Amino acid sequence: MHRRLIAPGALAAASLLLAIPASAAGFQPGAPGIGDPYYPYYGNGGYDVSHYDLRLKYQPQSDELEGTATILARTTQDLSRFDLDFLLDVSEVRVNGAKAAFTTSGQHELVITPATPLPKGTPVTVVVRYSGVPSTKSAYGFTTWHRTPDGAVAADEPESAWWWFPSNDHPLDKATYDVSVAVPDGTQAISNGTLQSTSSKLGWTRYTWRSAKPQATYLATLAIGKFDITTGTTSAGIPVINAYSKDLGDNDGAARASVERTGEIVDWLTGYLGPYPFDSVGGYVPNTTTGYALETQTRVYYSPKQFASGSNTSVVVHELAHQWYGDDVSLKGWKDIWINEGFARYAQWLWSEHEGEGTTQELADYVYASHPADDAFWTVKPGDPGPDNQFDTAVYDRGALAVQALRDAVGDDAFFAILKGWPRDHAYGNASVADFQAYAEKVSGKPLAALFDTWLFQPSKPAASAARTAAVARAATAPVQPRSWKQIEATNFVHQG
Ligand code: TRP
Ligand code: ZN
Repeated sequence: MHRRLIAPGALAAASLLLAIPASAAGFQPGAPGIGDPYYPYYGNGGYDVSHYDLRLKYQPQSDELEGTATILARTTQDLSRFDLDFLLDVSEVRVNGAKAAFTTSGQHELVITPATPLPKGTPVTVVVRYSGVPSTKSAYGFTTWHRTPDGAVAADEPESAWWWFPSNDHPLDKATYDVSVAVPDGTQAISNGTLQSTSSKLGWTRYTWRSAKPQATYLATLAIGKFDITTGTTSAGIPVINAYSKDLGDNDGAARASVERTGEIVDWLTGYLGPYPFDSVGGYVPNTTTGYALETQTRVYYSPKQFASGSNTSVVVHELAHQWYGDDVSLKGWKDIWINEGFARYAQWLWSEHEGEGTTQELADYVYASHPADDAFWTVKPGDPGPDNQFDTAVYDRGALAVQALRDAVGDDAFFAILKGWPRDHAYGNASVADFQAYAEKVSGKPLAALFDTWLFQPSKPAASAARTAAVARAATAPVQPRSWKQIEATNFVHQG
């Protein structure tokens, strides 16, 4: 509850502008977390960011990053103090032009006290000057800043921003970005969106990127290194920018043979998911030792290991499907992760069918049959898996099985209308599993509470539908492993640490 400082009508409207309080009485500190039960301190309360302007300089040899972040926000309460999530060393903070006091608290809170308290609903500009060696910083005992022989990469989920820019670090607070990075001549800096300019001066080259549609903080990415950059255009006219480390060794050919198919795959996904939601697309493959891929907005991150067994278009499909399911429509809370991973995995199943390597039904039957009822797989509830199981294989595979169960229940016409309509209905916003169920019920005209409960929220193996039991019985033998299976599962490197 917030108290008014001035009784309504006590002052003429014209003098309300002068109603800046002399003290912070009635003004409260913003919460140190945005209110996500999985991660109580992620994000913050009291304000909403609309834009991040990051002007950075990075020295690969020493891993020194320095920068100025200019954050445009609006207060959502009468605010005496507020937090940003950040780990680097701050030298100065200004709020609306004036120097502000700051300190640190907890694992990753930068606590800022403006000289003048901030009334609810007003625009605020926060400037943070900082520097530091990201690889030396940790929170909860880990770091997600990955150094490479020629640079570094910020790409992780859910934590990635703390090591390179101060933020309201939760998908609920999406914003646009301008990221401008100076690196030594001969080195490149890759980020999201379109490359607005490059310029070189006194041995430093500055790359300026723009991500002009709302973007969650974990989907902001930065890669510094020696890259070979390729460009193209999708059939729909979306510019494609890909980047490959010059140091991919034997994985170089397979990486390019996969990621260079981005335009084709975006065109194919458009048929199922609707128009591509952003003004640029592509991926980058740095020379990291990590194993996973990540759906960083417009510029997907791929570990070289994803291509160690040869080309892999399935992982490209997965990460590009996230551009609609996860990036355009982002989760409201991390418990809603099924909307990201269940659908990105289902897109891989559709691609498998398209490639003649196993139909979605064959993949669903295989997942169902491969996990006996007493397998711990069925104890993970994709609709609310808990923070420790957020990226468990079950969120993906049982999650995609739930998508297939929905398709079986509503029929293909309604199912494909839901698949394509959802990103349009919630464009650039946030949504929950409950929102998805409501949308699916609206489009299909069918009550779906029992289906969602069975497939997403029960810690046990759902009974097969009568039709499926009969079909599997007719086949007499256990479902064979679809040809696409191993490649699809290889997307799950994150589960192997
Ligand atoms: N969202 C990623 C994907 O499925 C996987 C992922 C989960 C991940 N946790 C991560 C990637 C941590 C990098 C770091 O595409
Ligand atoms: Zn995914």
